[in-house]
Amino acid sequence: MVTPDYWGARGEAIVRGKSKPLLVWQGIPGETSRVEVRQRGANQSYAQWLGSDEPDDFRVTPPCDRYHPCGSCPLMHLDADGQRDARRELVLYALRNEGLDDVGVNQVVPSPDGEEEFRHVIKLIAGYSDRGRPQLGAPGRFTRRIVPIPECNVVHPALRAVTKAAAHHMIDLDVRPFDGQRGLLRYIHARRSRKTGRILVTLVAKYDTRILYQYAERIALACEDVSGVHLHVNEREDNVIFERDDEGEIRTHRLMGETFLTESLIGVDYHVGPADFFQTNPAMAEVLYDDVIQASEAKDGVPIVDLYSGVGGFALALAGVTGWAVGVEANASAVRRARQAASSGRVPAEFLRSDVADALPALKKRLAKRRPVVIVDPARRGLEAEVALGILSLDPRRIVYVSCSPNSLARDLAKFVGRGWTVRSIQPYDMFPNTPHLELMCVLDPPDGGEAPVGRGPRRRVVVKP
Ligand SMILES: C[S@@+](CC[C@H](N)C(=O)[O-])C[C@H]1O[C@@H](n2cnc3c(N)ncnc32)[C@H](O)[C@@H]1O
Repeated sequence: MVTPDYWGARGEAIVRGKSKPLLVWQGIPGETSRVEVRQRGANQSYAQWLGSDEPDDFRVTPPCDRYHPCGSCPLMHLDADGQRDARRELVLYALRNEGLDDVGVNQVVPSPDGEEEFRHVIKLIAGYSDRGRPQLGAPGRFTRRIVPIPECNVVHPALRAVTKAAAHHMIDLDVRPFDGQRGLLRYIHARRSRKTGRILVTLVAKYDTRILYQYAERIALACEDVSGVHLHVNEREDNVIFERDDEGEIRTHRLMGETFLTESLIGVDYHVGPADFFQTNPAMAEVLYDDVIQASEAKDGVPIVDLYSGVGGFALALAGVTGWAVGVEANASAVRRARQAASSGRVPAEFLRSDVADALPALKKRLAKRRPVVIVDPARRGLEAEVALGILSLDPRRIVYVSCSPNSLARDLAKFVGRGWTVRSIQPYDMFPNTPHLELMCVLDPPDGGEAPVGRGPRRRVVVKP
């Protein structure tokens, strides 16, 4: 019998152990349980939960027959309240590790669409089963072989239909999965717009060839919601889905149909292309966006600097209120889409295609001592080493930090706190139910409280054209 002590970042319950930790799949901290050790590693061992005489109040039977082999939803053995408690605990650990014990963490805001069918994005891997059969699905938890997930209940039903059609026609047309050396198809990425119901599919392949056009047609014919199918050629050796070229662009080309989807959050229309980042749970994202807008306390004349702005992010939502906003984003196609949306919505936002670190000195000049509200929403790894200081050089009146990683958020907050900034409480959101992941928002105030006269934002220099 073991009693796990705390949650691991991947959703296992961890027993501290004398020499090395034991990670219990399906375990719950504080619940004394029977487990079977399945693998002994050099630094940690892995066990499977078998049963408990006094099950935790939050424990449920995972409502998915692929819970074990797939492993993408490691918290599915908890009810929704238990999952939220677990995710909040992970945020508290991350803060404690950085010495930020005083920062409060609010209760997690539940996903408005619930714990099922909330995902509007699927990422399928093409590969082989244990018996060598071509498969589309998730990477297996035990064997690294592909586990088909045609009935995955966290994705929208229309995306389940895409999963089934793509798997069927992959085999029917003999589109061979890439196995690391030979084969063609690597991944399938599909996004559904909650606003329009349309779906954009991206085939990620080792090279471009005729059969992929036929494959695209077949998927679109089988699923009437599919409005466009695109191809991204990825020759990388590793398992990154989208490869950027030297200009930071993720190149795709259209095999058929539309070039982008329109998604709407808090009344703002975003144009989302085949390889652009956009939130997976739009209903939850809408609550987050609304809170960021409130937290920014944006008003006429206050410049908004939106770093890592994707297809327009907070700059598009706030420029109308303040009269000016600038977004900085590395992905050239996302920037094109943001400019296009600003242009068609007549929004006074401009977008720079740049690494955030490179853009900050020019932005400082451009702001000419006007104190901006800075909003940052970096990728999981958080702010690059030089970015925190670069942001401070803009003398922000406030920073709103949006993050999908408690660990990198805590690490970056510690840098700001070390320079006298105050972190208000952290607000977590259930963007990814059934997993240990969540989205977080926090507001930081400068040592002087951020008081600054409100003047005019910088004059727009860039004529916004798609
Ligand atoms: C988490 S997404 C946020 C997007 C946007 N704020 C939203 O809500 O949809 C992070 C974005 O940062 C971009 N990115 C990653 N590294 C970057 C860098 N060093 N400089 C600029 N943009 C970067 C990615 O392409 C992605 O669009």
